Amino acid sequence: MSLKKMNNQNMPAHIAMIMDGNGRWAKEKGLKRTAGHEEGAKVVREITKYCSNIGIKYLTLYAFSTENWQRPKLEVEFLMKLLDRYFKKELPIYLENNVRFKPIGDLSRFSKYLQKTIRDVEEKTSHCTGLTQVLALNYGSKDEIIRAIKKLNEQELEVSEENLESCLDTAGMPDVDIMIRTSGEVRLSNYLLWQNAYAEMFFTPTYWPDFNSSELDDIISDFVKRERRFGGI
Ligand code: IPE
Ligand code: IPE
Ligand code: MG
Repeated sequence: MSLKKMNNQNMPAHIAMIMDGNGRWAKEKGLKRTAGHEEGAKVVREITKYCSNIGIKYLTLYAFSTENWQRPKLEVEFLMKLLDRYFKKELPIYLENNVRFKPIGDLSRFSKYLQKTIRDVEEKTSHCTGLTQVLALNYGSKDEIIRAIKKLNEQELEVSEENLESCLDTAGMPDVDIMIRTSGEVRLSNYLLWQNAYAEMFFTPTYWPDFNSSELDDIISDFVKRERRFGGI
């Protein structure tokens, strides 16, 4: 079945992914872990373009977690440089594809320079009306919820689902419909705990650098056949 021909109401509005397995992909090939991150960045582009082409509204990708600072210093430094290079190279591609870019997470822990690069891409793509590509950067769901509760308190808002949602980094976005984790691990690793409340989950053994649009296509085809009951019957 061609995804383009599928009934719109069955299509997911929001797909979230945990891009995992870069290091193992590289190690199995006798390469350094960093080679896996490099390759993984190319897959981000392919998947983003694909989602944009088939009319997905939100694609949220886990790029760096609040826990990833625990990695060896050299790997963290490499990832910071890779992010900077990625954003600089990516801007024209976002614009060509009418993709709006939005970061979630606590950017304040990144260098001022990287923060500026990220904000710049966000601002320059803010007029785009196609897919919104969300990158989770220094993101942790517990951290996000705590920051949201602080905002609620500051604004003296009543504690309600709606008000809390309006204070999350993902404010204004629909909840996750499809949540995919690559690399065979079956856990959420502090990712979108609130937003995944009713997501359909998919876990594939494929390492992220080997993931592609054809596998995503199979997952979406499976998703549209699932019956989502949201607590009803
Ligand atoms: C995911 O791949 C990328 C990041 C967390 C930045 P990993 O680096 O976690 O790869 P594995 O899980 O060690 O194979
Ligand atoms: C989750 O992957 C974070 C990202 C993909 C950015 P990890 O590789 O850091 O997760 P754990 O440590 O295996 O749970
Ligand atoms: Mg991992």
